[in-house]
Amino acid sequence: MGWKKSLGFLPYGKDFQRHRRIFQEYFSKNATNNYQSIQLREARLLAQNLAAGPSDLDYVLNRFSAAIIMGITYGQQIKSDDDPFVKLVNEVGIAFTHAGSIGANVLDIFPFLRYMPSWFPGTYYANFARKNASKVRRMYDYPFEVVQEQMSKGTAKHSLVSYYTEALNSGNDLGFEFDAEDIKGAAATTYMAGTETTASSLSIFILAMILYPDFQTRAQEELDRVVGVDRLPEFSDRPSLPYLEYVLHETLR
Ligand code: HEM
Repeated sequence: MGWKKSLGFLPYGKDFQRHRRIFQEYFSKNATNNYQSIQLREARLLAQNLAAGPSDLDYVLNRFSAAIIMGITYGQQIKSDDDPFVKLVNEVGIAFTHAGSIGANVLDIFPFLRYMPSWFPGTYYANFARKNASKVRRMYDYPFEVVQEQMSKGTAKHSLVSYYTEALNSGNDLGFEFDAEDIKGAAATTYMAGTETTASSLSIFILAMILYPDFQTRAQEELDRVVGVDRLPEFSDRPSLPYLEYVLHETLR
């Protein structure tokens, strides 16, 4: 499908190590503090969307996680529901999750099948991959090009792509080698790794709160006691919300 230079599919070796390094640097514990403003902005929008009443829950949760990752990875803010980039990554996401099991696909067992014509038995996933490869390529190229254009105009916001591109353009003093394809692959991987995982975790949180309302009540009581009812929670409240922290850990577990 064209998932080149993507950590999830790289065999162990130099590329694999380089990509882990890109992620570990950009998503270190310290660095992630810089992304809190984006998370807070989108969390509040999510709260508004949820409070607005019945809506397509999956859609609202996906929009939330996509918006955060898009801000961090590409420095873009999702303004409308029919944002072309969101549409593209949703299509790629569907292609990704319908492409068969990784490592247990008939193509993994008989790799020669990928060279066979579409009428040949057992080539369903090879055809599927061929059909969707252009979308994956577009997901690598399109947002990267948007950021490059914004950088040349001086309007780009700080992001994973702008950070590593700047390093590349200024002679790269980060201490390890990488090129534009590495940046594209790391950015696309971040998007795929962070969107559905986050949205589905939130979905599980909501399910857990419905199934165990006593725990919801206790978490709500803690929030009301610590934050009050006149403002929304901030990241700085987090150390004072131990019960909520346990609920979060349990959700992730
Ligand atoms: C609640 C949401 C998430 C869940 C449940 C989740 C789950 C996981 C799991 C199980 C692993 C494998 C860990 C291991 O065995 O070493 C992993 C690795 C990874 N995840 Fe996530 N993830 C989530 C969110 C994210 C987000 C938001 C991003 C990007 C911003 C991300 C990027 C990555 C990367 C890059 C790795 C590979 C790390 C490495 O080995 O260097 N994930 N994730």
